[in-house]
Amino acid sequence: MESVVQRGVEIWGRQQDVIFDAVRPFYEEPLVLTEGQGVFVTDADGREYLDFFAGILTTSLGHCHPRIVSAVQNQAGRLGHTSTLYVTEPQVNAAERLVALTPGELDRVFFTNSGSEAIETALSLARMHTGRTEIVALRHAYHGRTDVARSLTAHASWRGLPSLVAGVTHTLAPYPYRAAIGATSDEELVDYYARDLVEAIETTTNGRPAALIAETIQGVGGFIVPPRGYFQRVAEIIRSYGGLFISDEVQAGFGRTGVHWFGIEHWQTVPDIVVMAKGIAGGLPVGATVTRADISDSWRGKTLSTFGGNPICMAGMAAALDVMVEEDVRARARERGDQLRAGLERLAARFPWIGQVRGMGLMQGMELVEDRVTKEPGARVMKALLQATREEGLLIGAGGLNGHVVRLGPSLLISENEVAEGLTRLERACAAVEEGRS
Ligand SMILES: Cc1ncc(COP(=O)(O)O)c(C=O)c1O
Repeated sequence: MESVVQRGVEIWGRQQDVIFDAVRPFYEEPLVLTEGQGVFVTDADGREYLDFFAGILTTSLGHCHPRIVSAVQNQAGRLGHTSTLYVTEPQVNAAERLVALTPGELDRVFFTNSGSEAIETALSLARMHTGRTEIVALRHAYHGRTDVARSLTAHASWRGLPSLVAGVTHTLAPYPYRAAIGATSDEELVDYYARDLVEAIETTTNGRPAALIAETIQGVGGFIVPPRGYFQRVAEIIRSYGGLFISDEVQAGFGRTGVHWFGIEHWQTVPDIVVMAKGIAGGLPVGATVTRADISDSWRGKTLSTFGGNPICMAGMAAALDVMVEEDVRARARERGDQLRAGLERLAARFPWIGQVRGMGLMQGMELVEDRVTKEPGARVMKALLQATREEGLLIGAGGLNGHVVRLGPSLLISENEVAEGLTRLERACAAVEEGRS
């Protein structure tokens, strides 16, 4: 066993010599993963973990789903790459399946290799369609790692150089737990955020914004769920100023939030452009920007992507979407999400440093605090919990401005027993953290 432990340490040591230092894995002693199957992953030490973070909500059908593996293997042996200068049936198949799931008249797709590129595409498109440049984003947002995506992102630690791309302004995040007003109802909160959006447009833009972009549930921000009525109102506001509403569904899409395919559908709002990635293809590198034909037709000049729409990824994606439909992952996410949520509420009743439990479907989080009254972010307790869950054989995610929010987003195919097992491990880890504090 010892030599295997050393192998993990050795691989991490080698990574530090060749990979950018800015790439910071979880844990002080990072976890080196070597295999995954369903909701379990194995590290270089041979130790198994129940995966409740799914590579940031991405392996949403579990690791190595046999249908995806087989589709990828078949396509890799037939035709692996063409570029978008040639037409391939796998890309058309994947796009047809995708638009069958998207709401309204959103039926034009551009494929990329990542969420960040899909964000770039959406922004370029909004600017070309409206002939305007200014974009309103939300504080606490995370939209990716390119210059444009980092400019939209509103977390100091993810932004890098200041003043990235001009023409981006940020309005308040719909973050009820930390709202500066002591609002009690969703209506009051929505009024409050709507007023700030209007003020941001009137005071920090030229009054002619190209778009408002928002994650349906802020992911990296700590699974921040907007109040009821929020998206209806802000979509109406941005459109009243002649701008488009762009929904970033990179984390919340593909059944993750339960009941619907896309998170935004819970707010009965049809965006003008939707950005997707992560769970779209069960772990393969695919991003997509989906919109109406009148908007996609506004693209000026030509565009191509060497790897976007790659036949191997597209074949795997079509297989993943077929499984999602056949298994009705929306319904599963609701059922298992309710089970997970009930378990987390029980933990919140037991441990005073759990400030709030929130989320939808199988996208559930817990904001940790040092003190429930002051709501001081519980960064220290989160650090301890991350380590304790690892020791219990459970992978969880961390998010929030101070890294103090537990993020849970397992495979949408997770079973009742596996959710129960995850909750048991989480409770044991919480108890160990509590013991360490007293
Ligand atoms: C909401 C959201 N948008 C965009 C992105 C960027 O996606 P990618 O990392 O694939 O570039 C992310 C990544 O975490 C995300 O969470």
